[in-house]
Amino acid sequence: MKIDDTNIDDLICSPDTYANARLYHELFDKLRHEAPVHWTTPTNYEPFWTISKHNDIREIERQNDRFLNAPRSILQTYKEEEQIMEVTGSRKIPFESLVNMDGMHHRAHRGIAQPWLMPAKLKKLELDITNIAKEFVDRLESAGGNADFCQVVSTPYPLRVIMTILGIPQEDEELLLKYSRMLAYTTDPDIGSEEEIGATKIEAFQRFFEYFRVLAAERRKNPRDDLASIIANAQVDGEAMTELAAMSYYVIFAIAGHDTTSMSSAGGLHALLEAPEQMAKLRADPALLPTAIDEVFRWVSPIKHFFRTAVEDYRLRDQLIRAGDSLLMAFPSGNRDEEVFESPHSFKIDRSPNQHLGFGSGVHTCLGVHLAKMELRALYSELFARFDNIELAGNPAFYVSNTVQGLKHLPISCNIRRA
Ligand code: HEM
Repeated sequence: MKIDDTNIDDLICSPDTYANARLYHELFDKLRHEAPVHWTTPTNYEPFWTISKHNDIREIERQNDRFLNAPRSILQTYKEEEQIMEVTGSRKIPFESLVNMDGMHHRAHRGIAQPWLMPAKLKKLELDITNIAKEFVDRLESAGGNADFCQVVSTPYPLRVIMTILGIPQEDEELLLKYSRMLAYTTDPDIGSEEEIGATKIEAFQRFFEYFRVLAAERRKNPRDDLASIIANAQVDGEAMTELAAMSYYVIFAIAGHDTTSMSSAGGLHALLEAPEQMAKLRADPALLPTAIDEVFRWVSPIKHFFRTAVEDYRLRDQLIRAGDSLLMAFPSGNRDEEVFESPHSFKIDRSPNQHLGFGSGVHTCLGVHLAKMELRALYSELFARFDNIELAGNPAFYVSNTVQGLKHLPISCNIRRA
């Protein structure tokens, strides 16, 4: 496709662009070279600046008092915002989670779950996570090594991990997976349509909230040693969290805690299958696994953007950002910035240093970094120990979405390793 001034702004927003890695990178390579701070006026969205370079994204995220997370966090069409406002009144975002908060308010809320995701606490969960990884690799083995890796392993595995941490029973996993699909992939033709996106998201939030309201009430009565109980009983500045903030806390964990990790583990395996010499190198030297996993996060960058809004006028490169303007930070583009990464379009399992932006940066840096790394370590260790000759057994398919995006299907075949 020819990318020019007539279509570039719509391409930046179109969910289809994100399902086509070649188009995405062609588009953002062009932006980084020709217009790294680009005023974007798409047809169906409020205008914004597209920020495509690594250092610019970090410069914005570092100054969290100048560039706020509220009020705009992700791309939403005018129509989607209208549909949401029909239900919420004046708010364009149907929930109030960490990604929509700023300042002390954000800090106080972030502190509630943070201890649960720090290495000391995760160490105690490591055995559970390893056993869950084994269970899903067992399923691949039961399928004779021929399966859609997304369906059998990479989707259910991180879902089980986050539900275990939250303390949610296994029989509810399917239900919560269904709601999170409605929320995150409404633009995917298998799930919804761009026309109905706002209404579908609202319905997903309502279902999620109904579910978590019951869970929170139960955990207030009978607290357990799980994250659901921590959230249900949390206080902020000496008072209980608002109902909206508490419900949003559950939702952000239920969705951020698994989709990103499943996209990364499937995308990482896909990258290794496409670069057999990298797979061979990793198999020959498993000590490279930690740097390989960092490279997976750089390569896949499952979160495609977040917004910030300027509080005051600010000069970025040759552009004047006005107070009130919003800025789209394109994380996967920052992760292919040739000024920061040597051969950015090559997947290298021993890349070091690797200052990728897959988890963002600054005070909103992903809370799940350590957990996600532990999950990928457990999964890949088990997978490579158990199977030889992992190969692509069909065409991979990708979700059509401009927010969280990655593989939907990854057909593979592999041989069980003989001792
Ligand atoms: C491969 C896995 C993951 C990736 C690539 C990822 C990526 C991100 C990114 C890019 C952000 C925004 C950072 C920013 O604004 O600078 C974020 C925020 C967040 N992530 Fe993750 N994430 C992953 C896994 C997880 C997991 C497993 C959890 C929970 C257990 C989680 C929970 C969160 C939360 C709560 C936030 C909001 C933090 C805040 O605003 O203070 N993420 N993540």
